[in-house]
Amino acid sequence: MTDRGDRPVGDATRVVGAGRRRDWTHTPDGRGVVNPPVWRASTILYGSVADLRAAAGRDTHHRWFYGRRGTPTQWSLADALTELEPGAEGTYLYSSGVAAVCAALLSVLSPGDELLLVDSAYDPTRAFAGSFLKRFGIATRYYDPMLGGDIAALFTESTRAVFLESPGSLTFEVQDVPAIVAAAKARGVATILDNTWATPLGFRAVEAGVDLSVLACTKYVVGHSDAMLGSVTAAPGRFAALRDVSFQLGQVASPDDAWLGSRGLRTMAVRLAHHEKSALAIARWLADRPEVARVLHPALPSCPGHELFARDFRGGGGLFSFALRNATEASRSAFIDALQLFGIGYSWGGYESLALPVDPARHRSAVPWTSPDKLVRLQIGLEGTDDLIADLANGLMAAQ
Ligand SMILES: Cc1ncc(COP(=O)(O)O)c(C=O)c1O
Repeated sequence: MTDRGDRPVGDATRVVGAGRRRDWTHTPDGRGVVNPPVWRASTILYGSVADLRAAAGRDTHHRWFYGRRGTPTQWSLADALTELEPGAEGTYLYSSGVAAVCAALLSVLSPGDELLLVDSAYDPTRAFAGSFLKRFGIATRYYDPMLGGDIAALFTESTRAVFLESPGSLTFEVQDVPAIVAAAKARGVATILDNTWATPLGFRAVEAGVDLSVLACTKYVVGHSDAMLGSVTAAPGRFAALRDVSFQLGQVASPDDAWLGSRGLRTMAVRLAHHEKSALAIARWLADRPEVARVLHPALPSCPGHELFARDFRGGGGLFSFALRNATEASRSAFIDALQLFGIGYSWGGYESLALPVDPARHRSAVPWTSPDKLVRLQIGLEGTDDLIADLANGLMAAQ
């Protein structure tokens, strides 16, 4: 917080003050700036040889040492993200969400171990497991996203980690995180959750017992589609290994991008509230359209795990998919090409709307995706909901 007090506050207040430590924004005479500035650094200068020697070999977290270990710019965002996950020990930042996923996995897995990976995980997460981890002797088994506590039956002597992503990429299945966490804890198995969609404002992962909560900060934290950034927030007992692995891998998020992350974080609660409200209105509108076969939005009963969303989440994001009825590749492309307010491109979580054709069948192994429906993924931005609905109506006409 801003060091102004320790009264408990809500999330909207917390995102405004989190990580703004007074000694990172103020001079000793008490004057200061609002935002921790961008400290760009490789060399850190020491006052004397004795000072330099005293710093070496010590825990350098949050202390000036060398640029790769960060500066107050990165520490401020890391601390802010820790504050948003009640009960967490610490956060490490990365140059992308994928880098964060990989570091989280490497901090809990060793050769000979087995990873249980949710079948609906983001494709590059699957790719890392299937190539890099495999090459280093770590096996991966995929599990059904709708498997709750029954995941216990999959554990073997070598199972060391369960990776969750809830809701899942492209198809938005909501997982029973508390049940999976309970089963994993009973066996001493680590849990990692990609919490990018809900953010800690929508789902408090560490409070739910998750060991490592991953965010592709590129999405809602940055919020403006102009920087790549990732984070892992660790539960007590998990942070030291995460930090050591990250140091050894030479991971450092650029101070400029960390600053953009902090800038984005201050408005994240209000942006998310709009994304969520507008996306839900649009998802409901689409569900009523005869051209639409199915809407995959966690807040709608048509989405697998909807009841878990209602039980566990405080809020959600603005990303969901829907299926065009009887669509062909050509009619799906015609729909997307006809949209004027939706960009066509990867990523999401920025202020602008996006549309993307998605084909989950290529990224499944535990439960084959057999639906012939052509899916479109929508990122609902901060434009007016009515304008977006009018644009989508126009697109649906073009797809006929
Ligand atoms: C759910 C999810 N996790 C992780 C990532 C990776 O983030 P980045 O693009 O910052 O590497 C993405 C990117 O689209 C994502 O959708």
